[in-house]
Amino acid sequence: MTDDAFNVGQSEWYHPTDEIIQNAHIPDYEALYQEAMQDVEAFWGQRAEVLDWFQKWDKVLDTSEAPFYKWFVGAKTNIAHNAIDRHTKTWRRNKLALIWEGEPGDKRTFSYHALWREVNKFANVLKSMGVRKGDRVTIYMGRIPELLMAMVACAKIGAVHSVVYGGFSEQALADRIADAQSRVIVTCDGSWLRGNIVNLKQVVDEAVHRSPVVESVIVVKRTGQDIHMEPGRDYWFHDLMNLPIASPYCETEVMDAEDPLFILYTSGTTGKPKGVLHTHGGYQLYTSTTLEWVFDLKDDDRWWCAADPGWITGHSYIVYGPLILGATSFMYEGAPTHPYPDRWWKMVEEYALTVLYTAPTAIRGLMRFGDAWPSRRDLSSLRLLGSVGEPINPEAWRWYHKVIGKERCPIMDTWWQTETGGFIITPMPSVSLKPGSATRPFPGLEVDVVDEEGNSCAPGVDGYLVIKKPWPSMLRTVYGDPDRYVDQYWSKYAKQGWYFAGDSARKDEDGYIWVIGRVDDVIKVSGYRLGTAEVESGLVSHPAVAEAAVIGVPDEVKGSVIYAYCILVTGFEGNDALVDTLKAHVRHEVGPIAIPAKIEFVDKLPKTRSGKIMRRVLKARAMGLPEGDLSTLES
Ligand code: WT7
Repeated sequence: MTDDAFNVGQSEWYHPTDEIIQNAHIPDYEALYQEAMQDVEAFWGQRAEVLDWFQKWDKVLDTSEAPFYKWFVGAKTNIAHNAIDRHTKTWRRNKLALIWEGEPGDKRTFSYHALWREVNKFANVLKSMGVRKGDRVTIYMGRIPELLMAMVACAKIGAVHSVVYGGFSEQALADRIADAQSRVIVTCDGSWLRGNIVNLKQVVDEAVHRSPVVESVIVVKRTGQDIHMEPGRDYWFHDLMNLPIASPYCETEVMDAEDPLFILYTSGTTGKPKGVLHTHGGYQLYTSTTLEWVFDLKDDDRWWCAADPGWITGHSYIVYGPLILGATSFMYEGAPTHPYPDRWWKMVEEYALTVLYTAPTAIRGLMRFGDAWPSRRDLSSLRLLGSVGEPINPEAWRWYHKVIGKERCPIMDTWWQTETGGFIITPMPSVSLKPGSATRPFPGLEVDVVDEEGNSCAPGVDGYLVIKKPWPSMLRTVYGDPDRYVDQYWSKYAKQGWYFAGDSARKDEDGYIWVIGRVDDVIKVSGYRLGTAEVESGLVSHPAVAEAAVIGVPDEVKGSVIYAYCILVTGFEGNDALVDTLKAHVRHEVGPIAIPAKIEFVDKLPKTRSGKIMRRVLKARAMGLPEGDLSTLES
């Protein structure tokens, strides 16, 4: 967020129409917020009644081992039961759960009944591969229906899924497999992107080579290209699904509300990615409640969350949230501009999609192609829009509102994180909007902007974003590293017991929150979260690089791009050919999303006397700004 956005946006109101308010699940946000705050536990306990539980809880929230909070203590449940099993007992068995379109234009649809059968079959396949309750399964796939099935199948048998986004490559995947100790990997032969095939299986082969723990690889045939299949290790998904073992009946494992559901790796300050752990009980409640109230989902909606299931947005709002609500979701495999820049708008028209939820970077990218592409399509089915991943600049907000939403569709700008599991600061359709602000906290959540000491900042003053009360879908720990959990999120405001989000923000006179961005070494490239450390270790794993420092620099479309500064090993020459080699190396090791926009060779990096790289100095230099206080710089 820029100062300009704040100054202009603060008084730029967009009020919902009476019709929107009357049709909303929550017509009066303020009243509900006040009600929830009177007794947050009672609020969540009451709402949890809309879900099925095999056994009810003894206590909604247990704070005795804070910050290791426990929700719905003593309850027995399984998110897969609420997501699919229960719908097959109602009229929704015939409702479409998923409409899918591949990039080449192929289409598939699944009713809740059909999806339930596929999930059961695959759950039995996983069992036959020796996967048991508590075992981890790594999933590395393109955006195809089998990805969603594999996730829910894991949940059904009590296995813990770890989905790795297909835009990561070899070393990133190998690290995540090793950390989770997954013996089984589910992948596909490839996936379509911009008319090309992404060779996912090849990345798996190389990553598995580096992670000896893997015993079996299950491969979905998507592209049909020739790939290597390792005898005794690799199996075709379709072969397994045709075996008698793949029966369409599979008992749903009875889980404790606090049993792990998934690990999702995300970047933080320095070091290796953190395995954020979420559990069955609180997560199912929070994702379904937030989706229902914020996007006002009803049975006749066609919901499109255009994210990738490999990120938290997809976990919560492509897979679990919509399925629990019994909603119809749309999913698309490929690039928004393939083969033409109207691909998205064409699909909105063709499938009569009613809600679109995407990231500012996608909006800005599509905006560049002008108004003619969306204007030639019938977008009248849309009634709500959403944004997530980074602050949305008011220009992009206004374009989205006018050209896509025809000034009819409110925009839900949702602030949240992998760690929070669901929306935290977000409007609802009945809330008045200001472009660039995620508005107010979700009912039951207490959020503030505070200074170093924890005092609330006055309106207009920058501070740190904190969450002052636990919420049901909060991360439970960092997988295998509870100290890191405490240290990263709970140590900064340990005295107060607040969750530190790692973002800076500002409130305005109306109590609206304006998120500015990360205060740690996390860079948001096209909304994707990357750690400077991951990109740096990718660079230094090349023999030519002795030391590397990377920073995020503002970019009009991507939000930020990566600039890298490398000190070379003696004997290597820093020329254009080496720049290309290093970019290819980062693509291969970390993934295409981590490729630096610029690589510069330097003799020295600005460091503190204790040897810490001063990224702020590099950033100021890159942006041509004053370098600020250099007194702590190593001489
Ligand atoms: C970081 C979390 C939550 C799903 C996708 C991102 C930034 C996220 C917004 C927003 C301003 C936002 C924050 C946050 N962020 N949404 N609406 N406005 N900033 O999840 O990859 O864990 O990243 O994304 O900086 O800390 P994530």
